[in-house]
Amino acid sequence: MRKDLSLYIHIPFCESKCIYCNFVSSVETPDKQKQYEQCLLSEIKLRAKQYNPLYTIRTIYIGGGTPSCLTAGVIKRILSTIYLNFTVQNDAEITIEVNPNTITEEKVQEYIAAGVNRVSIGLQCAQGGLLKFLGRKHTYADFEKCVKLFRARNLNNISVDIILGLPKQSQDDVKTTVTNLIKLNIPHISAYMLSVEDETPLKEMVDNQQVFLPKEKETIKMYALTASLLKKAGYTRYEVSNFAKPGYKSKHNQVYWNRQDYLGLGLAAHSYIHPVRMANTDELDEYISFMEQNKIPLSDAEKISTEEAKEECVMLSLRTAQGLDTTAYANEFKENILQTKKAQIHKLIQLKLLKLTEDGFLQATDAGFMLLNRIILELVNS
Ligand SMILES: C[S@@+](CC[C@H](N)C(=O)[O-])C[C@H]1O[C@@H](n2cnc3c(N)ncnc32)[C@H](O)[C@@H]1O
Ligand code: SF4
Repeated sequence: MRKDLSLYIHIPFCESKCIYCNFVSSVETPDKQKQYEQCLLSEIKLRAKQYNPLYTIRTIYIGGGTPSCLTAGVIKRILSTIYLNFTVQNDAEITIEVNPNTITEEKVQEYIAAGVNRVSIGLQCAQGGLLKFLGRKHTYADFEKCVKLFRARNLNNISVDIILGLPKQSQDDVKTTVTNLIKLNIPHISAYMLSVEDETPLKEMVDNQQVFLPKEKETIKMYALTASLLKKAGYTRYEVSNFAKPGYKSKHNQVYWNRQDYLGLGLAAHSYIHPVRMANTDELDEYISFMEQNKIPLSDAEKISTEEAKEECVMLSLRTAQGLDTTAYANEFKENILQTKKAQIHKLIQLKLLKLTEDGFLQATDAGFMLLNRIILELVNS
């Protein structure tokens, strides 16, 4: 019987780099982008030879970088190549990440004709000054126009990314951003806490004290405010950063959190095919050279140990509202975590950061979701 598989396709190009971002993406010439497309199509065909006989594709996620900055026709060719070489389930969830200023009516039509049925729009925040400071190329009005363009073609499965804890961001800014999304009836919102990444202009500005981050207490307050506004508006927090109206949870992201199999194609894409983790090279010229020789462009592949699998299970499941299924954990790892981590779990329950449901799920409480790293450290390292 065929097993389930999800596909992640990486598009490593952007119109310009935002000051906080260290995702594998760069500004490249149209010729380089064309060369990459050829290589990506070759990788799809090459990897399908190995995986298509065994798997059915349930979700596809085209992420980046900025997939929507590609020229007309590329997304259509990528998806057609996938359909020709893999077995894709009829109602597969097919998501594309887009930046608001890059969307036109023609692109929306192309994506929908190619099978895209979910879109993830990077807004980050609703304030023009803050967007400029971050190096974003769009305004809030561009975002509203982008939502309208998708909805005009009946693509209503829309997710929006925002970031909390930005320099110069106030509680009122967060409230306005989230309230605007609620008013627009956006059915899925990902609210990420800012991470100051090495080798980004933001890191340098923070280190040089050119800009200041909100205090941790302020950032936690921004997250609590977001969670509370969204809860009141009928969204469920199904993962620490992800909120959805009924029927709009991301199937693709749940594959990651549930440690199910996914295959990443393209530059720097990661894969997990139980029990092996793989990573493609993150050097663009090396990726192109691999594919020109029709070789799988891997830079790393390792079988994960039981210890690593246990840690991943704790880390990923506690991020979700469902929490850690201690029965499933015992079945998979032949270990009763309620016994082996008894003292730590007891302490976290006393601190009201964790709770244990009647059917054996360990779940973060509202307070716990704000201190998840602490909970995970306690359970994984001691
Ligand atoms: C892979 S990025 C690409 C999305 C798209 N290019 C865009 O910028 O809208 C996906 C999301 O990650 C989030 N992100 C990127 N860098 C981040 C950082 N340093 N801290 C927190 N969130 C970040 C942003 O919300 C972004 O929309
Ligand atoms: S946040 Fe998005 S648009 Fe900005 S550099 Fe990163 S991938 Fe590109």
